[in-house]
Amino acid sequence: MEDTYGHTPPEKAIEGADVYGVGFDPERSARKELRLGIIGAGPVAQSKHWPALRRLQTIWEPVSVAAFALRTPGQAHKIERVFGGRWYDDFARMIAEERLDGVIVCSSDESHAAHAIACIEAGIPVLVEKPIARSLADAFRMCSLAERHNVPLMTVANKRYSPPYRRAKELVGSGPVANPAMLVAKFNLGYDYVDLLESGTIHILDIARFLMGDVRTVRCVGVDRYHRSRRRYPIDNAVCQLEFASGAIGAISTSSTALSFKPWERVEVYAEGAWLEVDDQWRLTVHDSELGGSRTWEPAPPNTLMFDEEFGGFMGLIENFLQVIRGAERPVVTGWDGYRAYEVLVACELSLARKGAVVRLPLEPEEADAEAHAWLRSAGWPGPSAG
Ligand SMILES: NC(=O)c1ccc[n+]([C@@H]2O[C@H](COP(=O)([O-])OP(=O)(O)OC[C@H]3O[C@@H](n4cnc5c(N)ncnc54)[C@H](O)[C@@H]3O)[C@@H](O)[C@H]2O)c1
Repeated sequence: MEDTYGHTPPEKAIEGADVYGVGFDPERSARKELRLGIIGAGPVAQSKHWPALRRLQTIWEPVSVAAFALRTPGQAHKIERVFGGRWYDDFARMIAEERLDGVIVCSSDESHAAHAIACIEAGIPVLVEKPIARSLADAFRMCSLAERHNVPLMTVANKRYSPPYRRAKELVGSGPVANPAMLVAKFNLGYDYVDLLESGTIHILDIARFLMGDVRTVRCVGVDRYHRSRRRYPIDNAVCQLEFASGAIGAISTSSTALSFKPWERVEVYAEGAWLEVDDQWRLTVHDSELGGSRTWEPAPPNTLMFDEEFGGFMGLIENFLQVIRGAERPVVTGWDGYRAYEVLVACELSLARKGAVVRLPLEPEEADAEAHAWLRSAGWPGPSAG
């Protein structure tokens, strides 16, 4: 297990001279130089991906964003000023004209499939934002195509790279929280202008798979208590029960109506003689001894070593993507992981449509999409193509 709780190597921190980790890094700087493109340079690209890329460049990662696609000129000119890179209003032209080593797809959910497929067909590795697509059938097509063309496809599951979840994974993998029996989680999306399950809870569904393995059955009950979803998503609060292929069980509660103040996210994993908790993707505690006390890892104020880019997991995610392009690492999150997380989400929607019935995985993509979309539309949701 690493003895650092973040990206900055502990020896750099301890030396004091380079607490920000910006000193010359011969290993990183010797890596192959890569040119990326970004499709859909909107709020998330500008607030999460670019700052993470900047931070990686600052610690000597040889990567640049050569070009980006965006349809709004005002935003595009600002991005050129702030982050650089050539602006294209047509993503297809960007793919054709730039010699890109990889593309990050950050467009709206409805466009993920079309944008990722265009890149894969051009042989360009893709990192696509979550959810991987807006239908299981599209997600399946993307993953199968990437496999056929032997092009890396990764999905954004940034929490997997966040230090507390990374370490939780190690504790579940090699003990003391090995062979877990149960996961209990809460997620407080806290706002209703996006879809409760698709836009937020999918992160926790992915973390559940990350820590516990594949999901075998899903049962979900939900309520539209306050009828205020601006996108008319059918429910505003839900509880999902999961049964994992390992035989372990899980329960996740999620809400779009309570405020998203902290603590807004909590994951607990229970094993034999030990359990762990991750609070707000920030503090990890392991309880493995009645007498010895518990162990907690959390960033200590004044927090100089903790960068949001890093704690949000985006730095780790993008560095992994770059190393996958170089053939130097395996992806921590594959296209198929994005597919499976989305499949658990669709299973929740099917269970909701069937009034809390147990839904068994794997799902048949077209059938499952048809039933889930019919349920969404019956509640007045504008449908997957209306974004
Ligand atoms: N990982 C996370 O923590 C996280 C958090 C929030 C949102 N997201 C996801 O990130 C993605 C982007 O979110 P956002 O809020 O920035 O979305 P957004 O819809 O506000 O922005 C997407 C941008 O893509 C542009 N775009 C769409 N189609 C295009 C095309 N054909 N060519 C060029 N540009 C195009 C749009 O004009 C817009 O500027 C979404 O999929 C969202 O679900 C991820």
